[in-house]
Amino acid sequence: MIINSSRFIVSNQSVGKCPSEQRHEYAFIGRSNVGKSSLINMLVNSKNLAKTSSTPGKTMLINHFLINDDWYIVDLPGYGFALRGKDQRGQLEQMIKGYILNRRQMTNLFVLIDSRHKPMKIDLDFFNWLGENEVPFSIVFTKLDKMGPQAGKRNVKEYCKILLETWEELPPIFLTSSETRLGRDELLDYIGQLNDLPLE
Ligand code: GTP
Ligand code: MG
Repeated sequence: MIINSSRFIVSNQSVGKCPSEQRHEYAFIGRSNVGKSSLINMLVNSKNLAKTSSTPGKTMLINHFLINDDWYIVDLPGYGFALRGKDQRGQLEQMIKGYILNRRQMTNLFVLIDSRHKPMKIDLDFFNWLGENEVPFSIVFTKLDKMGPQAGKRNVKEYCKILLETWEELPPIFLTSSETRLGRDELLDYIGQLNDLPLE
C-alpha cells in the first residue's frame, strides 16, 4: 500500500468521543516505551506525526490519525508504566480496555513487543485477556535493529515457542524496526488486505 497522506484528527479520553464514521481502524498498543508512536511514524513516513519520547508514558490519550483520507491509525497509551500513580494507572487501563472492547471500527489491534525481551507476565496476561474477549490482534516485534537481525530473530522464535505452550495457534507475527524500516511493507500489505473486507 502507498501512503499518500496522514493527518492528526483528534485525541480523546474515552471511546464514546472517538470519531463516529465507519472506517477501518488499526490500533497500536504495548508496554510503555516499546515503540508504538515510532512505528506509526515509520509506517506513514513521518518524523513526528505521533509524539515519541525516550521517557516512558508519552502517549496518554486515544489518538486518531486519518491515513489516505480512508482509514484510521490509533496510537494508544502504553500499559504497565510503573512510575505512574495507582489512580492514574487505573484510569488509563479503563480507557484502553473501554476502547478495545467497544470500538467496533477497530479491525485489528497490533500488540507491540520489544524483540529483545523474554515473555513478561503483563504481556502474556494481556494476550489472554484479548483471547477471552475475542479481540482480533497481531503481534509486532519492535526494535529488531538493536540486537542485530540474527539474535533478534532467535529471540522472537523463542518467544513464539513459549506462547505456543498455552496458545494452540499464533496470530500473525511481524518483525519490525522503526530505524531500518524493517517490516513496513508487510504491515501495510496486511492492513491493505483487511481494508478490503467489509466493516461489520
Ligand atoms: P509511550 O507512548 O511512552 O508508551 O511509548 P511508545 O511505545 O510510543 O514508544 P516511542 O515510540 O515513544 O519510543 C520509545 C523510545 O524507543 C524512543 O526513544 C524511540 O526512539 C525508541 N525506538 C522506538 N522504536 C525503535 C526502533 O525500532 N529502533 C530503535 N533503535 N529505537 C526505537
Ligand atoms: Mg507513544
